Amino acid sequence: MPSPRDASPKLQDAMDDVVRGVNLTIEKLLPETDLAEARLYDAMRHGTLNGGKRLRPFLAIHSAYLFNVDSSRARRVAAAIEFMHCYSLIHDDLPAMDDASLRRGHPTVHKQYDEATAILAGDALLTLAFEVLSDRDTHADPNVRCNLVRELAKATGSHGMVGGQMLDLIGETEEFDLGTISRLQRMKTGQLMAFACESGAILGKADDPHRRALRAYAHDLGLAFQVTDDILDVEADPQDTGKDTGKDIEAGKATFVSTMGAEAARGRAEMLVAQAVRHLKIFGNRADMLIELAEYVLARRA
Ligand code: IPE
Ligand code: IPE
Ligand code: MG
Ligand code: MG
Ligand code: MG
Repeated sequence: MPSPRDASPKLQDAMDDVVRGVNLTIEKLLPETDLAEARLYDAMRHGTLNGGKRLRPFLAIHSAYLFNVDSSRARRVAAAIEFMHCYSLIHDDLPAMDDASLRRGHPTVHKQYDEATAILAGDALLTLAFEVLSDRDTHADPNVRCNLVRELAKATGSHGMVGGQMLDLIGETEEFDLGTISRLQRMKTGQLMAFACESGAILGKADDPHRRALRAYAHDLGLAFQVTDDILDVEADPQDTGKDTGKDIEAGKATFVSTMGAEAARGRAEMLVAQAVRHLKIFGNRADMLIELAEYVLARRA
């Protein structure tokens, strides 16, 4: 499994805690089964329990911490977000999309099983995310649960992740300017990260200024994260990232790197991270881990 490197010992400990907590929650929500359709569950487990940095769960859990949210509730929301993210990766890797064979150091779900099973496993994870959020165990207040469901739907549907994935595919054959590439990246990656941050504020019934500050942090962090993903696709080693590299150039994707080159793209990511961190001032040193995470996004090699 690829391990996130270049994190400080304190951040590494915090990331390890998130991985442990979220993996246990996923295990509980997705137990092994001997039902006739066990193949579906096996594929869902393969697509979710195969490693991963668990950055979105980290954002959800550490934003919930800012508002003293009960940690078991935050972990359920974190698991739901990871289900959504894993579904997007399973479908992103399909031959009809990025046609990738390696994910988190393991065969992609369609390679391990088959394409139809990968499509179904993705579909089932997507719907499971909403099942988990709408369950009473996630929050006693139905308004909070409804808010979580609505905001996750908005972040991941045609106005968010799925719309961004469509733009990403169109960008393989059409010229996009930088403004359109930014919009694409914010939609396909930024909005789910923004929801991860905002989920803590929703669970904690935070006031508007705190919620807005988190959203602004996530907005800049999400874009910086996708820019560094695009740089890693060009520069990193699959042994570190655990996934195929060189895919974006091969497919002719429109990225910051293809448009402005890796150096300028890195400069852009640095500027975005500095901006992201400034938005957290309102939280004082309670947001230290979110600040460190933003800095790690720049330094990461996986
Ligand atoms: C990969 O996300 C997909 C993108 C949105 C760039 P991550 O780099 O967070 O992947 P995992 O979850 O750690 O495998
Ligand atoms: C994937 O972006 C974004 C989503 C799955 C929504 P990429 O295609 O760049 O992700 P990787 O590089 O395959 O992880
Ligand atoms: Mg893709
Ligand atoms: Mg891909
Ligand atoms: Mg990529």
